[in-house]
Amino acid sequence: MTTPLLLTCPVGLEDLVRGDLRDREDVRSELLAPGLIRCVEALTPDKLPAMVDRVSLPLSDDNSVIAAAELVGVPTPSFRVHAKDPGARSEWITRIEALGWRNDPSDWVLNVDVGGGRIDLGSWHWSRRIGQLQRLPATTPGPVAAGLLRLAKLSTGDVLLDPCAGVGTVPIVDALLRGGPAYSIDRDPEATRLAHENAANLSVGQAVSVLKADATDLPLDDGSIDRVVSDLPFGKRIGSNELNKSLYPAILREIERVLTADGRAVLLSDDKRVFAESVAHARGLKISGERVIRYNGVTPTAYIVRRSRRPKRGRA
Ligand SMILES: C[S@@+](CC[C@H](N)C(=O)[O-])C[C@H]1O[C@@H](n2cnc3c(N)ncnc32)[C@H](O)[C@@H]1O
Repeated sequence: MTTPLLLTCPVGLEDLVRGDLRDREDVRSELLAPGLIRCVEALTPDKLPAMVDRVSLPLSDDNSVIAAAELVGVPTPSFRVHAKDPGARSEWITRIEALGWRNDPSDWVLNVDVGGGRIDLGSWHWSRRIGQLQRLPATTPGPVAAGLLRLAKLSTGDVLLDPCAGVGTVPIVDALLRGGPAYSIDRDPEATRLAHENAANLSVGQAVSVLKADATDLPLDDGSIDRVVSDLPFGKRIGSNELNKSLYPAILREIERVLTADGRAVLLSDDKRVFAESVAHARGLKISGERVIRYNGVTPTAYIVRRSRRPKRGRA
């Protein structure tokens, strides 16, 4: 029988993860808890949706630890044990060292989380499957960026824009998954420098154009962008509620200008009232869907924004 894999993803994206597993990989799964999915059929790391962050096996006895080593393909893996209770921690260390494995908390292949009842597979983690990015405090987690991209429904050849791209997470993840092309724009010089480095380090410099520019005055032609995907500044991490009252309408005006006629934007914000009011005042845009996502102590909403059919001001 296949050992069930435990998949962790941002809360709010579980149905997308399970849908992709079912439709693309023909793999059945069940929802165990918010952000936690059990996969009951065999799977390889390359088949995992990019919205999946951590992959684990349930921790039971020594056999579960040996099954984890088989899955990562390392006969004597280095490991670390995480447990609040020092007694339980040293008991597990002794048991696993008896298998001839090395306890190395700084360079582990398996993380044995006693309290969480699971064994995390290091080489199946998001950063090892998809890519390691340099980060800033407001950087979007990779699995969240993958979820926003999933909601944007990008097709081959579509031009993607992130006008508040920070270190480039969204366009770089898109380039790794789809091949771009994408614009990664931010007005912060340090974020832009890191976006350049991240794109180069992950060999997607050709697919991602990194520009230092203002989202309220984009250096892009009218109707030149098929999809906009962005984790907007939303006060708690960057900017402020007061600033957003003028920033959001200005960003939305530019998005409306650069989007193609059937374009779509997926915009993440926790400043929900200001965002909804700003879209309501943008005559050419409307919110066509929304989904709350929870990760790292924040619960922002991903808004799907499209062109509205309302006539432009002055033409009615
Ligand atoms: C939530 S962070 C985005 C994080 C990004 N997705 C990443 O992974 O690094 C919001 C970003 O908006 C940028 N920003 C704020 N106001 C801006 C503006 N007017 N034009 C362009 N970027 C802006 C900030 O510099 C910050 O990098």
